[in-house]
This record gives sequence, C-alpha cells and structure tokens, in this order.
Amino acid sequence: MKIAILPGDGIGPEIIEQAVKVLNVLGESFELETAPVGGAGYAAHGHPLPEGTLALAKAADAVLFGAVGDYQYDNLERALRPEQAILGLRKQLGLFGNLRPAILYPELAGASTLKPEVVSGLDILIVRELTGDIYFGQPRGVRECPDGPFKGQREGFDTMRYAEGEIRRIAHVAFQAAQKRGKRLTSVDKANVLETFQFWKDIVTDVHKEYPDVALDHMYVDNAAMQLVRAPKKFDVIVTGNMFGDILSDCAAMLTGSIGMLPSASLDANNKGLYEPSHGSAPDIAGKGIANPLATILSAAMMLRYTFNKNEQADRIETAVKSVLAQGLRTADIFEPGTTKVGTAEMGNAVVKALAA
Ligand code: IPM
Ligand code: MN
Repeated sequence: MKIAILPGDGIGPEIIEQAVKVLNVLGESFELETAPVGGAGYAAHGHPLPEGTLALAKAADAVLFGAVGDYQYDNLERALRPEQAILGLRKQLGLFGNLRPAILYPELAGASTLKPEVVSGLDILIVRELTGDIYFGQPRGVRECPDGPFKGQREGFDTMRYAEGEIRRIAHVAFQAAQKRGKRLTSVDKANVLETFQFWKDIVTDVHKEYPDVALDHMYVDNAAMQLVRAPKKFDVIVTGNMFGDILSDCAAMLTGSIGMLPSASLDANNKGLYEPSHGSAPDIAGKGIANPLATILSAAMMLRYTFNKNEQADRIETAVKSVLAQGLRTADIFEPGTTKVGTAEMGNAVVKALAA
C-alpha cells in the first residue's frame, strides 16, 4: 500500500500532517513518501508538478493531496501556476471520476447558512467528470476574432467537448454509486443550449439501460443550482461534466456549513485514486494552526475505502470524526457558542485518541 503524500501550499502541510498521524495509528503497513507540489514544487524544482513528484504519484497506489496555491505565485504564467499541478495529476493519472460527497453532520446543522429543516440529514454525492470538458478541450487560447461584429479584435476561446467513451465511463461510475446508495441519479446538463450536453444527455440515457434499478432524471444546470439551495435533500447522486461539477460541488459543499468538512476522491478505471479535501489552500490562515483537518482525514478514509478496499478502517476513521464532533470539539470554521474551539493539531490528536478508544 504505497501512498504518495503531496502536502502542497498554504494550509496543505498542516492538514496533511494530521491525516498522516491518523494513518499511522491504524495498525496497517502503509509506505508513505512525501514530495513537493504546487507552489512548493515550483519553489523547489521550478515546476508546480516536478518530474519526481509525478513519477512518485504514478508509482504509488494512491495519492493523498493537501491543497495548492498561494498569493506569491499568482502572477506566474499559466503553465507554472500551482493549479496546473492538480490539473496535471488528474490528466496524467487518468483520474476521470471525481466523487464529492456533501454530508451534513447533525452536530453541525447550525453551521449551515440554510434553515435546519432544509439541510438536516443531507447526504448527497456529486460525481464530477474530471479530465474532459472545457477544462482540457483543444483548441484554446487568444487569437484574432475571425468573424462577427468584433472581427479582427483579439478574442479568448476554449473548446467544450466530450467523447462518447468519456461520457459512458463516468455514467457507469455514477450509476454504480447510485446503486450502492438511494438508487436515484440526476444527470445535470445544458442540453437546451449546448450540443456537447445534448450528446451527454443521450449517452447517459443509453447507459441507463444497463441499470434499470436506478431511477434517472435529467436537469439543466441552472435549475440544478436553484434546486440545490431550495430542496437539496431531493437529490441522491448527481452526475455532471467537469465545469458544471466544479461549480455545483462548491454550492453543495456550503450547504453543509463548512467546506472544511468535505473530502473527495478522484479515481481512474482501476480505483487508483487521488484523495484531497474539497477546500483550497487558504493562504490567509496558513501557518496559524487553525485550519480544519477533518476534510483531509475523511479523504484518507475514502482512500482506504476506494483504493485499498479497507471498509472497516474507513468506518473507524469516520466514526472517530463523528465522536470528536459529538465531544463538542470545533475548529474556527465550524465553531459555535457552547462548543470548544481547538486548533488543527488538537483536532488531529482528538481523532487519533478517538481511534484508540
Ligand atoms: C477544484 C478546484 C480546481 C478545479 C482548481 C484548483 C483547478 O477548484 O478541485 O474544484 O477547478 O477543478
Ligand atoms: Mn472547484
């Protein structure tokens, strides 16, 4: 069980440290190796995804990833920016299936900006396609506008495209995830406007024939955004493309009160995976010891479940996290009067302690 540990920037190293503590007390023989990525990769080797880091990630069974990005790298050319590290890893490792659960822990119901009755008991899963769409479609760039009223001016352009096989494989991931849950799948598209997403809708409808036990419906992305804040509990599993999935998953995350609680898995066809918290590098609070490590710890649990098939160990971690919440321990992002505010390391230690109990 070889795990590449890529802490990255900002709060990345602090939160990864807590997840590593948790992995080390499970009594399993993991082989952990750490490498720099993102701004840290650029600082050490002149590239956000240094060759050695990519080689390590390729050789490992799983990658535990912190977060990338920091103000000091904002003015670098696009190819050298920290975000290229995560985009490069997803593409180069073929991690097309992104699972982003949004679960509201009952103890945190008050942390949501939505009314408790709208979000209590929320448990939805967004399946986001991660290596296609307008994120990666070629051609792209800035060129001379070839036609229309702005002909001759400079224009920026990107290409939205999805191959049939690309849609089929993510649809299978989503239908299978739905089979293990509430057996309902909502495919989110923009078929009323975009050719790519009419095609998406047709292919998902075709794949549905292989999963008669799952109820499929289709929703336009603008309506999906509205329904997510109006009646989020009506969803079970949502499947969508890279771009819509990026936006909807942030929205879904916030329903739970804190993006600091949400893990994610990015899987290839053989369940090799990269696991990362859904939140970013939060450079404004980096080094202060106040970041919430629970999303990263829960990402490690997803790693045990999806890559290593160690469901019992994954359950143990998730139970330990629930227990520290029940004890009233809260990092600043989920703090409410009447609970106990703790720092990053204290929270990590509390999970370790709960695991031993
Ligand atoms: C995410 C992030 C990334 C994305 C960025 C950092 C490239 O927002 O994982 O959702 O857009 O996919
Ligand atoms: Mn995002």
